[in-house]
Amino acid sequence: MKQELEKLEHEALKALERVDGLEKAKQLRARYLGRKGAVTKCLRDISTVPPDERPSIGRLANEVKTRIEAAFGKATEAFETDRVRPEGRLDVTLPGRPLGRGRLHPITQIAYDISEIFLRLGFEIAEGPDVESDYYNFEALNIPKDHPARDMQDTFYISDNTVLRTHTSPIQIRVMEKQPPPVRIIAPGKAYRVDSDVSHTPMFHQIEGLMVGENISLGDLKGILTTFVHQMFDEETSLRFRPSFFPFTEPSAEVDIRCVICRGKGCRVCSHTGWLEVLGAGMVHPAVFEMVNYDTDRYTGFAFGMGVERIAMLKYGIDDIRKFYENDIRFLQQF
Ligand code: PHE
Repeated sequence: MKQELEKLEHEALKALERVDGLEKAKQLRARYLGRKGAVTKCLRDISTVPPDERPSIGRLANEVKTRIEAAFGKATEAFETDRVRPEGRLDVTLPGRPLGRGRLHPITQIAYDISEIFLRLGFEIAEGPDVESDYYNFEALNIPKDHPARDMQDTFYISDNTVLRTHTSPIQIRVMEKQPPPVRIIAPGKAYRVDSDVSHTPMFHQIEGLMVGENISLGDLKGILTTFVHQMFDEETSLRFRPSFFPFTEPSAEVDIRCVICRGKGCRVCSHTGWLEVLGAGMVHPAVFEMVNYDTDRYTGFAFGMGVERIAMLKYGIDDIRKFYENDIRFLQQF
């Protein structure tokens, strides 16, 4: 009888799983628990069991009955609920759960904004690989092996001759190798340096600019960059060129813009100088033109490289670059 009871319980619960309506559940219940039901019959037949086994079989029979009862109770309740709400357990009158809508990362947005300004000025977009050869990243840019200028950029080496590009300047070379002047390109992309603090991340973004042709002068560089800054920020934002050094430009400059946070009065963001550095620039060094076989008597040009995160921080008043890459949705949703 013990086996019989266990078999009945198993059978009943299995059958219940397949039932799909209140009526069928009720019928099934009667088959086991009704007056002529199989379990009821077992309970009645307890008297036929040898007296010494009676208490344990009796207990088991009652337990089985209770468990089947509970399972049917639960199922019946669920079916009843369905009857009250004809749509079933899905309440179609509830307001829907909104899907989170994606958006562009602030850095991508700013890179697009910057690119658009230069596209309007007649520049085209160029690209190059993130994993770059020593030749394009350094050598062709007039940075020979063992030259101290290599220390300016703390480099991730993949192997002796392969690096993660430390700037977008190698794209200058790749473009000039492929086409004769005139050249007017910008090259947005990632750059990598072993560096990490409030204003540096190991991966960051730059937009390289290169313009080569006849009679291109420092005046053109100033004009283009001034137009850019006025369009990116506003007409009141002034800029200044500070003499600097890059092996691939001569003369070279670092360009600062009037602090957009304090308007030049001095604040934490500009370290109380009133100015913020946003890019490096200069007239292309003749040694670079020689590397790509451009006629140095005929052509001149300028190049610049600006930090996209820098511009984004200024545009939005953000004081820690790392926030861009922490993936905190509350931060990213604001843009
Ligand atoms: N590549 C330089 C840097 O990352 C910036 C630069 C680009 C300077 C082009 C001059 C001309 O620091």
